[in-house]
Amino acid sequence: MSSPPRRPSILITRALPLDAVTRARDRAEVDFHDVDAPLPRAELLRRLRGRQGLVCVITDTVDEDLLAACPELKVASNVAVGFNNIDVAAATRRGVVITNTPDVLTETTADFAWTLLMATARRVVEADRYVREGRFTQWENMLLHGGDIHGKTLGIVGFGRIGRAMARRALGFGMRVLYQDAVAADAATERELRATRTDIVTLLRESDFVTIHTPLLPETRHLINAQSLKSMKKTAYLVNAARGPVVDEAALVQALKEGWIAGAGLDVFEEEPKVHLGLRGLSNVVLAPHIGSASADTRLQMANLAVDNCLAVLEGKAPPTPVNPEVLTRT
Ligand code: GLV
Repeated sequence: MSSPPRRPSILITRALPLDAVTRARDRAEVDFHDVDAPLPRAELLRRLRGRQGLVCVITDTVDEDLLAACPELKVASNVAVGFNNIDVAAATRRGVVITNTPDVLTETTADFAWTLLMATARRVVEADRYVREGRFTQWENMLLHGGDIHGKTLGIVGFGRIGRAMARRALGFGMRVLYQDAVAADAATERELRATRTDIVTLLRESDFVTIHTPLLPETRHLINAQSLKSMKKTAYLVNAARGPVVDEAALVQALKEGWIAGAGLDVFEEEPKVHLGLRGLSNVVLAPHIGSASADTRLQMANLAVDNCLAVLEGKAPPTPVNPEVLTRT
């Protein structure tokens, strides 16, 4: 009698919705680090050694050293759309498949970037604090004036899935939409979203809201710097729910302090989880702890997709959302 095929072995590095963990346990041996804090590097390497699959998050660094230490690894499945924590080129060289979780988080992340945009423009956090502190003792005509959103110009830096979802929401606010991207959207999309492609200089100069939706790449690091902030309108707002290092945080602190721009809404930071001390003291910035995709439904879908990606590779099937599909077609 032949013995049943050996089940693949997976490390899940973080607390995930339990349905997704059960999904993995049904088809694999799973080492689950059921804690919502990063595995120390040495422990990550120790627990990954000998396993074929890794389900990881953006705080896990998957680099040449890790790949060399874990030669049995066949797939690293990131529970995120961004994958700047992974050296994809090194993984590709070693034949390790990398996957991410696009699409399932697009609308939720755009919802949250809009939340930041609106909270910043209409000073919702300041207003909440004002009421809680017992300062609402009479109605005031001149209290907490903010910026209008409807009819204004929204500048979208990075016109991928999330950038386009931002543009779709802007239609409801009757906004003019400008976008900057290395690749132009097709004419039908531009028409449907009433979006016009422009260069970054024009976008920064003409927008009332600048929202960032570009991946972190060498060419997008500090894309928003002192010079860009100076070129924005003094009445404009910046929103970043993409990656912190796209913005030069020290320059942003100066811009917010000195009134180069009116305000900012930030879900991401240059050196997470550290937040520039200068930001914490400012009232014209709304801060969030990297929760753009954090709705219950979406975080479950992301976890399920990451597990499905991982299992597919280990079972010799095509994963739904590979980052380096060229590894799969190698003979
Ligand atoms: C979160 O930051 C993601 O990339 O999904």
